[in-house]
Amino acid sequence: MSGVRQQLAESGHEKTFYLETFGCQMNVHDSEKVVGTLLQQGYRQVETVEQAGLILYNTCSIRDKAEQKVFHRLADFKKLQAKGKKFGVLGCVAQQEGEKIFERAPHVSLVCGSASYNNLLQMLVQLEGAQLEAEIDVGSQDPLASSRSGASLPAPRGISPAASPVSDGLLGLASGDARGLSRNSGPRTQDLVRITGLDDRQTDKCFETEFTARTNPHRGYITIIEGCDKFCAYCVVPFTRGKERSRTSGSVLAEARQIVDLGYTEIQLLGQNVNSYRDPDGKKSFAELLAAVGEIPGIRRVRFTTSHPRDFGRDIVDAIDAVPALCDHVHLPVQSGSSRVLDAMQRLYTREQYLERIEWMKTARREISITTDVIVGFPGETEADFAETLSLLEYVGYDGVFSFKYSPRPNTPALHLDDAIPEQEKSRRLEVLMAKQREIQVARYRKYVGTKIEVMVEGRNESRNQWIGRTSQNKTLNFTASANPKVGSYTKVLVTGSFPNSLLGEMVA
Ligand code: 5AD
Ligand code: SF4
Repeated sequence: MSGVRQQLAESGHEKTFYLETFGCQMNVHDSEKVVGTLLQQGYRQVETVEQAGLILYNTCSIRDKAEQKVFHRLADFKKLQAKGKKFGVLGCVAQQEGEKIFERAPHVSLVCGSASYNNLLQMLVQLEGAQLEAEIDVGSQDPLASSRSGASLPAPRGISPAASPVSDGLLGLASGDARGLSRNSGPRTQDLVRITGLDDRQTDKCFETEFTARTNPHRGYITIIEGCDKFCAYCVVPFTRGKERSRTSGSVLAEARQIVDLGYTEIQLLGQNVNSYRDPDGKKSFAELLAAVGEIPGIRRVRFTTSHPRDFGRDIVDAIDAVPALCDHVHLPVQSGSSRVLDAMQRLYTREQYLERIEWMKTARREISITTDVIVGFPGETEADFAETLSLLEYVGYDGVFSFKYSPRPNTPALHLDDAIPEQEKSRRLEVLMAKQREIQVARYRKYVGTKIEVMVEGRNESRNQWIGRTSQNKTLNFTASANPKVGSYTKVLVTGSFPNSLLGEMVA
């Protein structure tokens, strides 16, 4: 940082923020939009908590461990509040814990769930107003104040010393009074600024912004649907991300064209359940939208996550067959191989129905790589149920499995189920499953040796003297090359070796 910038930052006159993101692809992309909103508001993004005036955590609460991380971070940096730094919690933990966060971490000023991001700009203005007022208060006892903050400054807009959250569907101010905040002494609890965005889970609006700070240089993310109405028995998402709402196909396609203009050749369509996409304008089904994105000139690869087996139609496989730019990879979370457990999970499909979708993919013209998510140790899962999950892995032959131990989540129906599986047994099943899947992947990856595959060059691993490539099937293919390929370009690679999670090769002309 330049000397002047450093001074500005230290004196609190430059607006700086640090943002750390936890969790899924949706969160990563939400953060890109949050960053865009902050930059547009005149903030500068910095790389460490110490450099920042505003520290934000975009959180995940899908499993208990993910949720605990944010509270550890907040505890680690609490002492920085005395330096006038502000803390905000965004995303799923924010929505789930709501104002309880202020009790557990009183140094937090902003708590905002993802359904309220459309109001983020207003919340930032409120926060800045509170900060400004605090400075005036300090300044009034400070002989240098007039040169620093001007003669008459407006009271912060929308901030009032109300005692309880404002449930107007817009912004809530949980409690407190911005007055009396001091950058030097550290605030007293009764003086804390507490701004909340928690009341929008029934919104019909998606978070659409023209200010997206795209951080992934190779893959442009586009949210097509937000929220989830499925209410699987174990899952916190419908409670944290709110009800399902889709963007119009016109707006998605316009964003896709913009992304191409920025130089992207790969797009990933995002949603908690992309298959239940419903165009509010009634123009396109999900498969039609997918195909339309794939047909935009300049697009080389289109991906989509996540799919729900219940809503996964054959038309998606037909689209993959028909449009070469659609990647030959589908992530189709199964969660369990036992119909009994699937029923208890309220997944709305049986093992047989899931396998029918697998059959559509296996009989496609292009070889489609399939990956999945599995939960082990769901309440009541017997040894026989677990054996059915193992046999399903074997039958499908996945190229990747994300496996998790069941983690009880607040508000979810599964909390009230009997027959909890002991932690030790969950761990054992997880290990057995991972070992089995490893064997499957060793065999699956081996069969690519000797074939030529196109990769997008994603970067370079200097220590190994290798380039990092990604295949359309989303596999990592590391390779050597005599001439330096351009990062972001596409090239053919001859596969010479395989591992359980990646391939090795040499670039071919
Ligand atoms: N416990 C364990 N895993 C879970 N997942 C979602 N909720 C839970 C939970 N309560 C897993 C599912 C989902 C993935 C994103 O996270 O497998 O597909
Ligand atoms: Fe959660 Fe089920 Fe919705 Fe996926 S479909 S986000 S697992 S409730």
